[in-house]
Amino acid sequence: MNVLVLHGPNLNLTGFREPELYGRKSLGEIDDLIQKTARELGIECRILQSNHEGVLIDTIQEHRSWAEGILINPGALTHTSYALRDALVSVRLPVVEVHLSNVHAREEFRRTSVISPVTLGQVVGFGEQSYLLGLRGLQNIIKSTS
Ligand code: DQA
Repeated sequence: MNVLVLHGPNLNLTGFREPELYGRKSLGEIDDLIQKTARELGIECRILQSNHEGVLIDTIQEHRSWAEGILINPGALTHTSYALRDALVSVRLPVVEVHLSNVHAREEFRRTSVISPVTLGQVVGFGEQSYLLGLRGLQNIIKSTS
């Protein structure tokens, strides 16, 4: 099973950036945990972080044949990007949205996700565990529908 994992803008600073919200682990450490869990689950993951909406969209399009599902933390693009949402719909793959922080317990603007309506579901507020829980959920859905 092949899964594309995407991190959006500013997530490269995870560990340094607002650690009280996003935790103290670096993105590299989080990626290692994702790869470890993926190996245990028999999933091959390709992981990319970008600060650029277009790069994320290009990557989604390029992986439309390779990937069987997408796990994405769109960062602040969650709240604004119709282009990212359209890209996810276009490739017709199951998508799980994750967030390190509990976006629903923060500023009003973070409570709206333009991405969520085109996903299977959202995992928020569990720090790096959000990715690991999301990966398991995505795998279960892919298995049950293939
Ligand atoms: C985030 C939440 C977003 O609102 C924010 O813009 C981020 C990180 C999270 O993982 O909690 O960049 O996606």
